Amino acid sequence: MKGQENAKRALEIAVSGAHNILMIGPPGSGKTMLAKRIPTIMPPMSFEEALETTKIYSVAGSLLNKGGLIKKRPFRAPHHTISDVGMVGGGHPPRPGEISLANNGVLFLDELPEFKRNVLEVLRQPLEERRINITRAGISVTYPAKFMLVAAMNPCPCGYLGDRIHTCTCSVAQIQRYRSRISGPLLDRIDLHIEVPALSYKELSSKEEGIGSKEVLERVLRAREIQRERFKNFKINTNSEMQASHLKKFCKLDKESQSLIKDAVEHLGISARVYSRILKIARTIADLDESDDIKVDHVAEAIQYRILDRKLLF
Ligand SMILES: Nc1ncnc2c1ncn2[C@@H]1O[C@H](COP(=O)(O)OP(=O)(O)O)[C@@H](O)[C@H]1O
Ligand SMILES: [Mg+2]
Ligand SMILES: [Zn+2]
Repeated sequence: MKGQENAKRALEIAVSGAHNILMIGPPGSGKTMLAKRIPTIMPPMSFEEALETTKIYSVAGSLLNKGGLIKKRPFRAPHHTISDVGMVGGGHPPRPGEISLANNGVLFLDELPEFKRNVLEVLRQPLEERRINITRAGISVTYPAKFMLVAAMNPCPCGYLGDRIHTCTCSVAQIQRYRSRISGPLLDRIDLHIEVPALSYKELSSKEEGIGSKEVLERVLRAREIQRERFKNFKINTNSEMQASHLKKFCKLDKESQSLIKDAVEHLGISARVYSRILKIARTIADLDESDDIKVDHVAEAIQYRILDRKLLF
């Protein structure tokens, strides 16, 4: 994986704080490639996680090697034509869907705006509750659904808005319609959105490699440890799970950082509602920096990962 330093950094932050992430970029920019490598920078599965994952695959009847334990974190990438039952589970008897097959791993939704509206709708509750209850013909089962949501989309229907070489052929109305398919409560569950631009020839021909590097994983593990310690008397484990009371306690900002966010709200068109999301990301960035305090640099970087909130994109 060459270049894309900004995207790699964002993915490291996302995995560190267990934040969901949306990647926006033209076709061929490497979004799928990046998504597939995310499990390589996630902490290894604990024995309990491996058992839980294996159990789900067993119930789903998709255990490849009978009797063996699944040790690799799942990576699920259902096609956008998937039904709501395929996504969350169902049938007689109720079987786990993609969100449970992705448990302890990654659920990758490529071409996010192409998914059926009802399929995106049914994701909201499991994203919140981290499990899914399925009731069919009087039988009710609950399956775990703790997954990292990774989504990708083009910036516009033709894919080339903001591209350096190609010209976008979409009208403003087309772009707005395309974006509006995912706006609202689902977007609210996604802490980071980043641009993944097409690489230049120079970058593509460079020799530099990596995202799954050992150093990244080490930083992720350290950041997770800091969070575990912070939340040991609370019922959460990661920064992404913070509620208002945690934010108040653990995300205090100095004057400089406060005025930076205020400026962002006023000038970039970022809504005040997004404030808490910026705080969560800034907290994770500070943890990666092994800093107790959230500093202005952390906040400045966090604001960069909210591109969809800006009125003018790219
Ligand atoms: N950063 C990169 N480093 C190496 N190869 C890349 C990179 N970005 C894209 N590619 C190449 O381009 C192909 C398309 O990338 P892909 O991840 O499918 O793009 P997208 O999902 O954004 O459409 C990949 O199979 C890979 O060969
Ligand atoms: Mg792709
Ligand atoms: Zn376009």
